[in-house]
Amino acid sequence: MSGPDWEALVAAAAAVRQRAHAPYSGFLVGAAVLGDGGRIFTGCNVEISSFSHTCCAERVAVFKAVSEGVRQVLACAVVVDTAPPVTPCGACRQVLSDFGPGMQVMLANLAGERRVYALSELLPEAFLPERVLETIRARHGGPEPG
Ligand code: THU
Repeated sequence: MSGPDWEALVAAAAAVRQRAHAPYSGFLVGAAVLGDGGRIFTGCNVEISSFSHTCCAERVAVFKAVSEGVRQVLACAVVVDTAPPVTPCGACRQVLSDFGPGMQVMLANLAGERRVYALSELLPEAFLPERVLETIRARHGGPEPG
């Protein structure tokens, strides 16, 4: 089976990076995720004046995918303009894991550097949604998976 079209994902992430709203840090990030239906969803970081409400590019991309019906993400590309490229923050690793613990993550920059990791390398021993669901179901007999 062929892997994801990384160049398409990186191109989509690089394009959306230009829409980053980062007036405070000036650090522009673009992300693109591949849903299991084959569609690509993009996100940029969105900084908020009350800084802790800022959302990273990776989470914006995943939330856009989920809001369009995706429940399984196969791959994610992240593009920045730093060398080396950046790894996703801890919060984003958890969000990525909830929708694709087996996914591959490409870290890329505008200079053409590319590094591919398994998400399980970036987030070993991940906390999995199944653990919450099995406990809730055992206690209450629900809810059904959404
Ligand atoms: N940021 C991302 O969007 N993704 C990352 O992987 C690292 C950090 C954003 C958050 C904030 O807007 C800026 O980069 C500086 O932390």
